[in-house]
Amino acid sequence: MIEKIEARLRELIPSRDETIFEAARYSLLSPGKRIRPLLTLATAATFGADPLVVLDPACAIEMIHTYSLIHDDLPCMDNDDLRRGKPTLHKIYGDAMALLAGDYLLTFAFEVLANTSSLGWEQKLQIIKTVAIRAGAPGMIGGQAIDLESEGKEIDEETLLQMHCGKTSALLTACLECGSLAAGYPPTPLLQSIGLELGLAYQFQDDLFNATSTTALLGKPAGSDVAKRKATAVSLFGISATEEKLQVLRRSLCKKWEQLPKNGSELAALIQFILQRKS
Ligand code: IPE
Ligand code: IPE
Ligand code: MG
Ligand code: MG
Repeated sequence: MIEKIEARLRELIPSRDETIFEAARYSLLSPGKRIRPLLTLATAATFGADPLVVLDPACAIEMIHTYSLIHDDLPCMDNDDLRRGKPTLHKIYGDAMALLAGDYLLTFAFEVLANTSSLGWEQKLQIIKTVAIRAGAPGMIGGQAIDLESEGKEIDEETLLQMHCGKTSALLTACLECGSLAAGYPPTPLLQSIGLELGLAYQFQDDLFNATSTTALLGKPAGSDVAKRKATAVSLFGISATEEKLQVLRRSLCKKWEQLPKNGSELAALIQFILQRKS
């Protein structure tokens, strides 16, 4: 499936040679793990649909994720120099073009969603609304805002969870919701709670990697959270308590995916794979 995602991303993003397109391709086509589109396809399959009907929405979500990384790395945000094993976009094309490339990928994602020909109007509209809400201020943008406002501060657990649910769980939940909607089912609270916990576990792991892994393995700077005095799970709980909380989330997720429909083994295997990642 990952090959299908890579091929479709390449097909969708224009091959025009103006700088804005070149910059967008630089980030979008660099080697991401593609977990969001993979989750979207696996969820559609779980609910009995051909996963390929949701390929374009899955690619649109990856575009939104990529834009969020481009902006996240800008000097006015996390000021990072390395992403997906390569210099960050602004290091190559400058801050202003990186800002525009992010804007373009976000806008283009909604064009791709609107153009999806494999889904009916009703499903498409529900998917567009879901993605807009999850990527917006009630979701990812809201989490990123808390992240910025928390720099250099000691935040409490409630604020940390709100931040992680926004910046990471929201888009992962959108993937599950879009997969379900594409198969003709309104997302269930069970599915949404899997998205929420998967996002928390994912971000806890990301915070742990930043503190304990290496730049070479991660393809992005290790140790940067401490350097920038970011509020993270590790800064709040410490390494071993964060690992324990991650274990609790893993066990809870395991109970939840057992309740998925009988076609859900692919999604469960994917979630397990995501939880065991090393970068
Ligand atoms: C990084 O996301 C940002 C977080 C939400 C932790 P990924 O770990 O999915 O990054 P890529 O897409 O593989 O580069
Ligand atoms: C990135 O979070 C989350 C989004 C871009 C929405 P982080 O800033 O913690 O992730 P990395 O470590 O830069 O990938
Ligand atoms: Mg950040
Ligand atoms: Mg960052």
